Order: sequence, then C-alpha cells, then structure tokens
Amino acid sequence: MENVAQPGQKSGSNHVTKLMQKSLQPLNLSQEQLRQVKGRMLEAMERGLSQREEGKATMSMLPTYVRATLDGTERGDFLVLELSQKQVRAVRVQLTGIEQQQVQVQDHAYDIQEKFLKEDGKQLFSFMAKCLAKFLDSHGKTQTDFSLGFSFPFHCHQTGLDHSELISWTKGFQCPGVEGEDVVQLLQQAIDQHCKRYHIRIIAVVNDTVGTMMSCSSGDEPCEIGLVVDAGTNSCYMEEARHVAVLGENEGRMCVNMEWGSFGDDGALDDLLTDYDRCLDQESHNPGKQRFEKLISSLYLGDVVHHILDRLVSQGGLSGGIITALPTRGKVKTCRVLEILHEQEGLAKAKSLLMELGLEGSDLDCFHVQQVCQAVCNRSANLCAAGLAAILTRIRIARELPQLKIAVGIDGEMFRKQAQYSHMLKQKLKFLAPECDITFVQSKDGGGRGVAMVTAAAARLFAQRQQLQSLLNQLHMSTENLCKVQALLRREMELGLAKETNVIASTRMLPSYVRSIPDGSERGDFLALDLGGTNFRVLLVQVHSQEQGGVHIFSEVYSIPPQVAQGTGTQLFDHIVTCIVDFQTKQGMMGQKLPLGFTFSFPCKQTSLDQGILVRWTKGFSASDCVGKDVVQLLREAVKRQQHFDLDVVAIVNDTVGTMMSCGYDDPNCEVGLIVGTGTNACYMEEMQNVGTVEGEEGRMCINMEWGAFGDNGCLEPFMTTFDQTVDKASINPGQQRFEKLISGMYLGEIVRHILLKLAGQGTLFRGQASPALQTKDLFPTKFLSVIESDGLAQRQVRAILEELGLRVSCEDGMMVREVCQVVSHRAAQLCGAAVAAVVEKIRENRALEQLEVTVGVDGTLYKLHPHFSQQVKETVKVLAPCCSVTFLQSEDGSGKGAALIAAVACRAAQQQNA
Ligand code: G6P
Ligand code: BGC
Ligand code: BGC
Repeated sequence: MENVAQPGQKSGSNHVTKLMQKSLQPLNLSQEQLRQVKGRMLEAMERGLSQREEGKATMSMLPTYVRATLDGTERGDFLVLELSQKQVRAVRVQLTGIEQQQVQVQDHAYDIQEKFLKEDGKQLFSFMAKCLAKFLDSHGKTQTDFSLGFSFPFHCHQTGLDHSELISWTKGFQCPGVEGEDVVQLLQQAIDQHCKRYHIRIIAVVNDTVGTMMSCSSGDEPCEIGLVVDAGTNSCYMEEARHVAVLGENEGRMCVNMEWGSFGDDGALDDLLTDYDRCLDQESHNPGKQRFEKLISSLYLGDVVHHILDRLVSQGGLSGGIITALPTRGKVKTCRVLEILHEQEGLAKAKSLLMELGLEGSDLDCFHVQQVCQAVCNRSANLCAAGLAAILTRIRIARELPQLKIAVGIDGEMFRKQAQYSHMLKQKLKFLAPECDITFVQSKDGGGRGVAMVTAAAARLFAQRQQLQSLLNQLHMSTENLCKVQALLRREMELGLAKETNVIASTRMLPSYVRSIPDGSERGDFLALDLGGTNFRVLLVQVHSQEQGGVHIFSEVYSIPPQVAQGTGTQLFDHIVTCIVDFQTKQGMMGQKLPLGFTFSFPCKQTSLDQGILVRWTKGFSASDCVGKDVVQLLREAVKRQQHFDLDVVAIVNDTVGTMMSCGYDDPNCEVGLIVGTGTNACYMEEMQNVGTVEGEEGRMCINMEWGAFGDNGCLEPFMTTFDQTVDKASINPGQQRFEKLISGMYLGEIVRHILLKLAGQGTLFRGQASPALQTKDLFPTKFLSVIESDGLAQRQVRAILEELGLRVSCEDGMMVREVCQVVSHRAAQLCGAAVAAVVEKIRENRALEQLEVTVGVDGTLYKLHPHFSQQVKETVKVLAPCCSVTFLQSEDGSGKGAALIAAVACRAAQQQNA
C-alpha cells in the first residue's frame, strides 16, 4: 500500500492520492510492529498457560483433552454435528483405519435462521438435534447406534473430552441460557428428545480449530497446529502438557485451544488499532472483546472496508464527493471484499459494490476500492502470521529444535475464498519465524472429519489404555500377595537352615563362616578380588587405624569377555591370574605375598572361610568344570600354572557378605547385606543355634541366603506372568534363579522387552510394528528403565531411546513404554522389599524383640542407579515389617573392602592361634 499512484492518474487527484495514503497508512504494519505483535502474543500465551485457574488471563489457552495426533489406525463409523455461524452441518464419517486411511464422508448442511442466533439457547440446540434426525432419516439406513463428536466453535471451559462449558458467545451469537452451561449436556438432552429412533452418545466436543488440525493429520505427517480464519479466528496447537498449569500433568502433549480472538482485550494491541477498528468495536455486540478477531476474521473485514470507504467519501476521496456518507453498516460483506481482490474481475466487482452503495464509481475509484480491500486483507494476513509465528517459535523452543518442520491445518472462508491469503501468511512467516519449515494443509471437508477422528482417536486411546492396563494388571502385586511372598521366603529360609531339609529348600542359606561384623581393630595390607558383578576388580586394600585415615583402596577394573565367562574353568581362572599379575606389576608389588580376600559373587557351599564349592553359576557365567569344585583351589591351581608367582588366599566371600562387612565397618548396626545389581541376593547374621548345617550353638554366623534361587521349586509360580516364563526359558539357566529373574538388572530389561513385543504384536504400541532390534535378546538393557523413568525426563528423550531401537514412536507410545517400565521395576522393588521384610522380621523374632533397629548394607547398579527403586524397597519394607526400623546404607567401596576386612580378621585369628 506504500504507493497508490497508478498510470493515467489525473494531475488534479493529488489530494485523493494523499487521502488514500493517509487512510491506509495505519493499516500498513511494519516488520518491527509485527515482530512486536509476535512477542506480545508469546507473552500472552505464557500468561494463559501458567494460570492455575482458567479464565484469569486475557487469552485463555484452554486444554482440549485431545492428547494424540492421529496415527492412521483410527477406525469406525462416527457422527459429527458441526455448528458454524451460518449453518449446522451433520456429517457421517467412516474411517477404515488401514495404512492409507480411507475416509468416507456423507454430509448435509442446514442453514440457521438469523433468529436462532439471538433466541433462547434451547431453540438452537433443538434445531441442531432436529437437523441431525433429518439427516439420519435420509442417510442412516439401518444403523441406529452412534458415537457423536460435536464441533462447537466457541470459547469453552473444557474439563474432559465430553464436558465443555460455554464461557462466552462470539461471532454474533447471543442466545441466552447457554453461557456457563455444559453444551454437551444441552445437546445430548436435545438429541434424546428429537432423535428418539436413534441411540446417540456424544463422546467428544471440540473446537473447530481442533477439528481442522485433526482433519489435516495423516499417519505419516502429523499436523500439530490448527488455524481457522472464518467468521471468527482462532488457533490450536500441540503443547507440552507440563506447560499447561491447570492440567498438573507432566507427560506427553495436549492440544491447547488458544482462543486467540481475545488477544488484545487487555490493551496489548491498542497502539495498532485505527479509528476504523475503534468504531467497529463500539458498534459490535461485544465492545472491547475479541480485539484480535476483529482485526482478522471475515465477520469484520467487510465492516472495516466500509468504515474506510465511508471516511474517503466524507473527505471527497471517492466519486468527487457527490455523497457524504455511506448507507448503514453491514452493506459491505467480506465475501464482496474478497471478490474485489480478484485479479481479472476485481475492478468490475468494485464497480458494482460502489453502485450498490449509491456511488457512480470511476475507474480510479474502483482501483482505490481494490486497494482498500487489499490493505485490509493484508493486515489480516500479517497479524495472523505474527500470531502463527508465536506458536511456531514456542513449539520449536519447547522441543529444543534448531529447525522446526511442521504442518499447519488451515480452514475458513479467508483461505477458501482468497487463494492469496495463505501465500501472504507464508511470505510473512519467512522473516517472523525463519527457523520453521511450514506446510499448510487445507482441511478437505471442514473440521467434520477431524472431529470424527478426535472421536475415533479418543475411542482408540481408550481401547489402547485398557489393553495396556489389563496386561500390566498381571504384574500388579497386592499387599496381600506381597505378604504371601514374604511368608513363602520365610518358610524357605527355615527349610534351608535346617540340616534335614536344606537340600529341598530353594534358598540354600549357605554359612559364610563370618561370625561378626568388623570392630575397627582390623589392620594391614590385603589383596582382594571382586568377581561376579558388572566389573571384575583387583584391589589393594590398606586398613589403618581411624586416626591414620582408615581404609585406603587402590584398584583396577578388568573385563571378563563373555567367551571367557562362558568358556572353560581353566581359561577363566588363568585370565583372573593374568589380571592379578598385571595389577601387582602396575602397583610395583610383584613378589609380595599379601593375604587375599576373594569376593566371588556366586553361590558357594563353604566348610571354612577359605574354601567354597561352587553350587551353580548364575548371571551369564557358565565356565565349564567349575561347578562342584572348590573355587579357591581352582584359583590356587591357576596361580601354580604361572611360574614365579604366589598367592595367599585366606577367605572366599560372597558379595552380599562383603557388602555387609564393608558397611559394617562404618555402622555397627549393619547386620544384613543386600545386592540388587546384575543379580540379587542377601545375607544376614543368624543365630548359630538356628544354623543346623554348622556345628555349634554359640554366637552368630552370617548366612548367604542365595535368595536369587527362591522359587526354583515352583513356589512362586502363582506370581509369575507369561513374560517371566519367556525370559526364564530364553536364559542360559532355565528353571534356575527364578526370584532373581523377577528382580535383578540382568532381567528387567528383558521382561520389559517381551511386554513391548506383546503390545506391539496386538497393535497397542508402535502402530503394531516391532523393530528387529526390539526382537533381539538383551537389546533393551535395564539401564534404559533407569533413564526412561527419571523424573523430569522429556518425552522427547524417551522417544529418542526407543527410536534408537528402530521403532516409530508416538507420544502415547512413549508414555505407555514408560508405564511398562514403571510397573516392571516397581514389582521388582516390591518383591525385593518383601524379601528384606522376611529377613529383618526373622532377625527380630530370633532376638525376641518388639522393635528391631537394623541397618542393611546395599550395593548393586540397579539399586543405586534406578531413580525410584530404593525408595520403593523402603516403602514396602515399612508396610511388611512394621516392627522393624530399617536403615539402608549404600556401600561406597564395593565388597572388595569387606573381603579384605574378613581376611584381616582371619589373619589375626590365625596369628593368635599360632602365638
Ligand atoms: C558390588 C560388588 C560386586 C557385586 C556388585 C553388584 O560393587 O563389589 O562384587 O557383584 O556390587 O553389582 P552389579 O550391579 O555390578 O552386579
Ligand atoms: C471462537 C473460537 C473459534 C473461532 C473460529 C471464535 O470466535 O471464540 O472458539 O475457534 O471463532 O471459528
Ligand atoms: C548370585 C549371588 C550373588 C548375587 C548378587 C546371584 O546371581 O547367586 O551369589 O550374591 O547374584 O551378585
């Protein structure tokens, strides 16, 4: 609009040119002004989203309860009723839900008489219901049961997909008796009254922007913004749920209906308003309201043009000033404005408009009218672009993306009748949101199909959630069942402790020959080996007095390659000795023969401190020719095979025992050792009189429970799911370590993986497609659970993990996977807690105490790294062992330190015996 001169303009028309410039200049918004509008819109969005109560901010940013964009699997036959300013449209949509979603639409539009816009709301709703009945009578065929989605394009407070109270009418509607009411109820009542032959249930009510967004989505290209520029204007988009304060949710996304028409109602646009806008607002039925809408939407553009022409006429800018005022408002319809913009016929249309207004328009007049129309439409598009740029920027920042590629679903008269409109938007967005690559998708048949899709998506999500829940219910552990597990373990403990029944017990309750926890008097330098967890370590442990700094540890981590862990015993022990030699060389201690404590984290039957017969391998070890042999002897033989090298193995120690001793050094109350890592197990101080498998009645001995094998006799069968059976069968030790396979790090990822496979198989997850990686054993490690379950982890990161596995993941998929992880790890923590409860209760009863105070020394990657596991163990113990006050102390130095302390005690005892 910068230059209104045109060829052939008469020299005397300088006045007119100036007048045109003056009249249109305020509509011509500079780039800087548009940037400011974008900035203010962003602020208004933030204010609206952060309100804890709806309706407090100028722009409401209303949650719509539409959580999913579509994934192409929606199917079914749905009814839609769509109210717009001039019509009620009844639509029947059939979705086939196959890869290339086929949509069949039948519809009929019924004109709304002017009177319905002002009459009692009941009349309007009755009219809608009657239209629906008419439509069904002519199209319904035999079907009588329907789910219905209601497109209601007004400012509503929604509390669920099927509950929505009208806040305020806009766009000329003023029917009394509806504001503050639930429009779903009003329509349902009207339908029940007027559609008696049918059974119709409204299951979703949506804003027209939401219908537009959804109707423009396809499985491959989700559309995440909906924009309507019609009689009214508005936008919706997928916002991170955690940013919508009223929701109080952290997960996923939700579509937010911005109600941007009211942007500026607080004065934020005052500096941009022209006199025309002020007049128009004053004449409207809602002065001061919907200020942004009045600058943009088609209900008002004709009036703005009218006001400008009126001004031009009164100042002699048109038709040489023959008349001084135009007839009343409403004469210039927006559809006429849009016609005038037409390249070929525009000028003729301008002429006929001028004639209708009583003006004999000259060619120049027609040209000026066209320019007025252009300026008004340009401003509308520019402001719309500024608003859209704010949404795009907000989404891009929330998703932490340098570039955003996104589809925007568009609908409304302005797009349909003015092909240039979306082009103008695009041009402006190039500099208002340069980091965004936008595709505009024109909604095909109004929001109707989109509403049907919301209805279908709601039905699909509901069904998926039910499938997920019914599957996860199998893993639910009630307190009653946890008590049963606790009691079963208690029974197995008794069986394992008694000499006669030890062989039939699933928990072997192995004596450790450790009779007390450290008392602080231990001294000396020791070697320690630590084998059986994630890492194999060789350590030098120097035990000084507390004054001299207590315990110092120097250690090296070595790997045990799987082919060694699963090769021959000779290979394994030779490898261990090679590592020891390397360590001693590095530490400059070759030739020294220090006493050695050997943490060996597998079940060993001990007859003394320095002898341990391997009962079985666990946790992925299977080296041949070791089971049934004394592990210390195997180590000594390997040492012998190395020349010029000697070792003095004084103790073999289970990692639970090492951990208990290590923590006991700092806390004399520590009488239980617990490991929840690759495997799981516990040990505790038992009364000698209860240990039937060792001679002697006096004092206590630490018992390595080997609770990983609990249930190997089938006693846990009632609590196992098909997933547990599958994981067991696919393991290298089927039928063994059944309790361990429910709890420990080596297996939780596998359980989750099998559940995900099942859910994908039944179409609940990943659109029914599992990737090759998900089908591969151990490709979903337990550390994924720890990450996925971390508080505050963005859904994006959850999805990134799953996408790494080659999966196509929707927002809902991410949420459901997280739920699966939570349920699996929660069950593990509860079972672990039930077992700890059995142990501490036994100690309490042994000592005939009403209340026991005891510390559990803990180690293991799962316990330490998982964000909630430790807390859930503690909570379960509290419930199941209410008379025990249990402190959990995490071991910082691993169990090697404990093994060294045990070696120290053994050496002192040996010295005392020799003296
Ligand atoms: C401690 C011990 C290891 C033990 C491990 C369990 O650190 O030193 O001997 O096996 O905990 O943890 P992980 O998670 O490595 O299996
Ligand atoms: C209404 C919105 C609607 C928009 C476009 C506005 O007047 O308040 O809810 O989305 O018009 O139809
Ligand atoms: C072993 C135990 C060990 C536990 C934790 C189990 O597989 O049998 O001896 O304590 O893992 O590492």
